[in-house]
Amino acid sequence: MKKPTVVSGIRPTGYLHLGNYFGAVRNFIRMQNDYNCYFFIADIHSLTTHPTPENLQAGVKQVLAEYLACGIDPEKATIFIQSDVPEITELYTFMNMNAYLGELERTTSFKDKARQQPDNVNAGLLTYPVLMAADILIHKAHFVPVGKDQEQNLEMARKFAKRFNRIYNSEVFPTPKPFTFDGADMIKVPGLDGSGKMGKSEGNAINLYEDPKAIRKKVMRAVTDAGPTEPNSTKPEPVENLFTLLKIVSTPDVVSHFDAQYNDCSIRYGDLKKQLAEDIISYTEPIRTRIIDILHDDEYLAKVARMGAEKARESAAKTLNEVKGLIGFKRLF
Ligand code: TRP
Repeated sequence: MKKPTVVSGIRPTGYLHLGNYFGAVRNFIRMQNDYNCYFFIADIHSLTTHPTPENLQAGVKQVLAEYLACGIDPEKATIFIQSDVPEITELYTFMNMNAYLGELERTTSFKDKARQQPDNVNAGLLTYPVLMAADILIHKAHFVPVGKDQEQNLEMARKFAKRFNRIYNSEVFPTPKPFTFDGADMIKVPGLDGSGKMGKSEGNAINLYEDPKAIRKKVMRAVTDAGPTEPNSTKPEPVENLFTLLKIVSTPDVVSHFDAQYNDCSIRYGDLKKQLAEDIISYTEPIRTRIIDILHDDEYLAKVARMGAEKARESAAKTLNEVKGLIGFKRLF
């Protein structure tokens, strides 16, 4: 049996944090065994925010190194850089002809971005979902692992796939389905600011690349409260969040030790935070070391990128040929 195809893109902005790791990345690592996976770095998408050439290059290298350090295996999954596969932009051009201004303007991500960067509402921002659809459809993906924020973009990709099939009376594109992980596999990591989940833009995140000193500083500053006054009281959100983090990175006996102290009101948050910081460090330090090693190994990075580009182009060229045939492009020479 042929394995179903999975495609997912990662924008090269910023560092991976613990939330990304326990949310998406660990599931990518599991998926690479059971699916025909294409994971790519969406460097063309990132141009919508106008990065400098230096930032773009550094960002691409950093995410590639980070994903490899986390355990994405280039022998199992096809890991590539979007701009290394020109077939994607060619398909994007064709898909643009059947994407309509009205539907693109109505997407919430476009409206959000237009509000966030009112001086840079470029056409790339408007057609972001079309490029994303091209990323997905070029490999005839069956599944796309996406978070809540990308559901609408995937819905557009599904719409564009069906529309293309209908217009050209073909079945060239499967309709890509969202890949959702069941509850146990999807660990929601809270932030350090007392509410909500860990996120880059929330400024409450601990990056995998963070050095121990910075981790200690961030954890010691995490929001708590004045401490319990009644035995066995329920924990307010900021305190509950610290316990949730502890459950993720510490051993069960450490968790029950602080739980008992909370319940008899003898807890000192400083002690809990110290322990939490050390346990986060034990978790992230090996990953950080690998990131640093890989970032120093340009030859390895080049080898991975070349191998990924070759595999991705092979798959992409096949689809593009079919698509061009359907559209009616016929070489006259
Ligand atoms: N839009 C996605 C994000 O912001 C990145 C992305 C680009 C993507 N192309 C994709 C995700 C294709 C899944 C499939 O995170």
